[in-house]
Amino acid sequence: MKWKNQLTGMKPYQPGRSTDEVKEMFGLETIVKLASNENPFGFSPKVSEFLENQSINHAIYPDGYATGLRQALAKSVGVEQNQLLFGNGSDEIIMMISRALLQSGVNTVMATPTFPQYRHNAVIDGAEVREVQLANGAHDLQEMSRQIDENTAVVWLCSPNNPTGMLIDQQELEEFIRKVPKEVLVVLDEAYFEYITDPSYKNSVNLIKDHKNVIVLRTFSKAYGLAGFRVGYAVAQKELIAQLDPVREPFNNTVTSQGAALVALEDLSFIEDCRLQNESGKKQFEDFATTHNLHMYPSQGNFVLLEVKADSDLVFEGLMKKGFIIRSGNALGTPGYIRVTIGTTQQNEEFLQKLTAVLKDAEVLT
Ligand SMILES: Cc1ncc(COP(=O)(O)O)c(C=O)c1O
Repeated sequence: MKWKNQLTGMKPYQPGRSTDEVKEMFGLETIVKLASNENPFGFSPKVSEFLENQSINHAIYPDGYATGLRQALAKSVGVEQNQLLFGNGSDEIIMMISRALLQSGVNTVMATPTFPQYRHNAVIDGAEVREVQLANGAHDLQEMSRQIDENTAVVWLCSPNNPTGMLIDQQELEEFIRKVPKEVLVVLDEAYFEYITDPSYKNSVNLIKDHKNVIVLRTFSKAYGLAGFRVGYAVAQKELIAQLDPVREPFNNTVTSQGAALVALEDLSFIEDCRLQNESGKKQFEDFATTHNLHMYPSQGNFVLLEVKADSDLVFEGLMKKGFIIRSGNALGTPGYIRVTIGTTQQNEEFLQKLTAVLKDAEVLT
């Protein structure tokens, strides 16, 4: 068959081991998964209520325009309804952008390490990928600027960046966007937006007003705790959204997902509470890192990238045997580090105890 050449050797997304699998492998009663930056507090109780009481007719197609959710989100974000695009998770929006703009003969600029789906989609669509090494965990915007040429179609910015958690400096971001040629799309992926507490951060939706080539991606998968429902969205000027919309699959958000996201959006205090709990959880990790002289990147997300001064895979295996699933830095392009989702106070406490034991076994700690 006539497969695209670039598919040769490409691997599908490798999900980590499931909790059931790990339980069985190591004879464990409970497993805590701190690997995918999901919300350890789940979702708003209002969503549970909605799910218990819904009487949806699943025999009919969903509203392909997501009208109810669109109206509420437009109000909450402060834009017009035609400035929003919904995806089956922001993953799907990344795919739509790639499909609409990337092809052989064009290039796309991104940081490394960053969220791997930008690269993955760009490769499938045949574009040249130009990766710019992070500088101390942050985007090197000067070098990214230098990589842009007349064949650049898309620049991907991830802020807070996965896996380092670092926010792009506000002033640098604004300068960068001013310099990027107007025919190059700048994607600003803010999957962890709701967790940001840095006072220098300015809502990126403001950037959209002045820049017709900027699109902001956000999601209901993280702070809203709806990863399983798959609802992500993009915000941009209406002309940009209109260009991308034909690429969207017509019924890409289910009826229940639209309903759950709409209800979740209304519970502001749940998000506020999760943000506060995340801050205090982060402090537990910061204290641990300071006490043991381990480097940790300053995170504005619900995860941390922590130095382990040992082989990350060994630490990952050791923690899994003790009932905690995290991500090894070896798989993320950050060897010598592990990425851990910030859990509940108790989960963090137990996790740090187990990590201490693993690092003692590895003779990193005494
Ligand atoms: C930076 C970033 N962008 C996008 C996503 C995809 O999120 P979703 O497709 O669940 O909206 C993730 C998920 O981990 C992420 O970390």
